[in-house]
Amino acid sequence: MTLSTAVEISYLFSSVLFVIGLKRLQSPATARRGNQLAAVAMFIAICATLLGNQIAEWNTILIGIAVGGIIGYWAAKTVQMTEMPELVGIFNGFGGAASALVAGAELLRLQSLNVTSPLGEGLSIVLSCLIGTVTFSGSFVAFGKLKGIVSGNPITFPLQKTLNAGLFIGLLVLGGAIMGLFQLGNLTTLNTFYIFTIAALSLGILLVIPIGGADMPVVISLLNSYSGLAASAAGFVISSNVLIISGALVGASGLILTLIMCKAMNRSLTNVAFGAFGGESIIGTQGDDSEKIARPVDAEGAAMILAYAQSVVVVPGYGLAVAQAQHELRKVVDNLEEKGVDVKYAIHPVAGRMPGHMNVLLAEADVSYDKLFDLDEINDDFDRTDVVLVVGANDVVNPEAHNPQSVIAGMPILDVDKAKSVIVMKRSLSTGFAGIDNPLFYMDHTLMLFGDAKETMNDLVREVREA
Ligand code: TAP
Repeated sequence: MTLSTAVEISYLFSSVLFVIGLKRLQSPATARRGNQLAAVAMFIAICATLLGNQIAEWNTILIGIAVGGIIGYWAAKTVQMTEMPELVGIFNGFGGAASALVAGAELLRLQSLNVTSPLGEGLSIVLSCLIGTVTFSGSFVAFGKLKGIVSGNPITFPLQKTLNAGLFIGLLVLGGAIMGLFQLGNLTTLNTFYIFTIAALSLGILLVIPIGGADMPVVISLLNSYSGLAASAAGFVISSNVLIISGALVGASGLILTLIMCKAMNRSLTNVAFGAFGGESIIGTQGDDSEKIARPVDAEGAAMILAYAQSVVVVPGYGLAVAQAQHELRKVVDNLEEKGVDVKYAIHPVAGRMPGHMNVLLAEADVSYDKLFDLDEINDDFDRTDVVLVVGANDVVNPEAHNPQSVIAGMPILDVDKAKSVIVMKRSLSTGFAGIDNPLFYMDHTLMLFGDAKETMNDLVREVREA
């Protein structure tokens, strides 16, 4: 077997492992193994690439691996779960930049050899550079918005969409020019390429600034998809099958994830991209303020209600993640189960701020996967549930979603208001991500357990034990 055949077989093997790894990510029970498989696949692909090429500069490569490995290890160990969208944003940005750099390097190489190139290669270079550069600048704006470095409010100005459309058309024209010049072996290609790159950088910034900071997780998922497409195009540039396949997998899965998030928020992709939503508070449809009375309860009272219930459903939300109260929650549930209470967790697809946020938090606290139920699996159970304990969740349990006049109309929600009683643990009556009031808090069978989720949960651990 020749070296190039061995490399291609390794690439095929890696690609199959990528697909199996991705498939395993669909369930929390198999996700860890799926991730490990994909990591092994990437390791094989890297080794095959290094061994299949005549590398003269091993030092540069080893330094790159060491620096990248240390930064990756440090990030994985130290970044908080609530900061994960920022980290993924940066990774997408670097992924896009890497693809654009590969395309640029190939262009420079061909120019230095003074050879013409087939139309297909020119197209791959242009696409890889365009998508990669837009992903790079867009991801860093998204990161800045999430970190508060750039205003989280939508930044809009007159004729913004016209400018973006004009810039996009200009990029297509420039891209066509690069391909044409390239075919002629014309040396002016490089200057056009630099202008093209600067225009693509500007487009990435302009596309993301009008989107509200709170919509950034959706944007980051979309940029993740773009980074995959850029990598796939880079795969065509350097004729690497494994890069084409893995890039396509990232592109497709990122797009599917984006659409799942949009569906779970009842938003369209165009509404996220152009709706300028999620920056400032939005006033929802609300009844007469004078009728709204919330009933507070203390930890002792809540513990009595929980401990004497037969069935309890816990609904975790963003506040649980912010407070990092998952371990204390687990202790409360353990204590309840010791008293014979049947406890389940209801997981809304967009509870928290990123896909799978609640699953990861609960997994950190060693909550068994078979106790987690998706919206579709559990929604019919609420009318048979004694108590629902809502921990730092708001929009995902807001019955206003059933009101056609509401800004969250049609958003699928967990119908916790159908349970016999509801205890809501949060610090105040203030709104969540969507910025609208929640009538659940004022219902006759709802009790508000005010306070930081971690501190209150600590009190609840003690009180449930003593109940
Ligand atoms: P939210 O509706 O954002 O509500 C979270 C609540 O947590 C807030 O009302 C806040 O009330 C409370 N909270 C904050 N810190 C707390 C603390 N330390 N202790 C106790 N409570 C605390 O959260 P949700 O119900 O999980 O809904 C998620 C929202 O994010 C949805 O609207 C969804 O569309 C959106 N979103 C999600 C995603 C993904 S993929 N998950 C992506 C984009 C957007 P207080 O201030 O009164 O405490």
